Amino acid sequence: MSRLLLMGVLILGSVITGIGIAADGEKLFAFYCAQCHGSEGKGDGPNVTGDFPVDPRDFTETAEMNKLSNADIRNVIIDGGPIADKSPMMPPWGKTLNDEEVDALVQHLRKLCNCTGKAD
Ligand code: HEC
Repeated sequence: MSRLLLMGVLILGSVITGIGIAADGEKLFAFYCAQCHGSEGKGDGPNVTGDFPVDPRDFTETAEMNKLSNADIRNVIIDGGPIADKSPMMPPWGKTLNDEEVDALVQHLRKLCNCTGKAD
């Protein structure tokens, strides 16, 4: 096999696997976020008890979510609540999730709020 053809096969192969493992915002949300933010994002997950100092954001509140840009959301996901003067009850995920996964989550939150948010 010529070297060029081999390279072509390798590139095609990685494109196909790339699609296969594309981050799925809905699944990531169910796995990492729903216990606090609720499976439908309403801020009513099973972890939230009476002694929670603040309620997790209800992502279906369009007006509130429209105040945030995608960059604002991304920063809070990566660095946790305190980066935006919010509660440390919102954990940082930067060591758990890669960029692609964080972006997929931002897109998922935009579906939940049915809003596009502030421009970055
Ligand atoms: C341990 C519970 C918990 C988990 C798990 C959690 N959050 Fe949060 N989250 C919170 C709380 C509590 C707040 C509200 C903090 C505040 O208002 O001071 C919050 C706030 C946020 C905000 C900020 C909204 C705003 O108004 O600025 C975003 C965005 C967010 N969470 C996204 C996520 C995503 C995405 C995940 C999953 C990767 C996640 N959270 C997992 C508890 C959690």
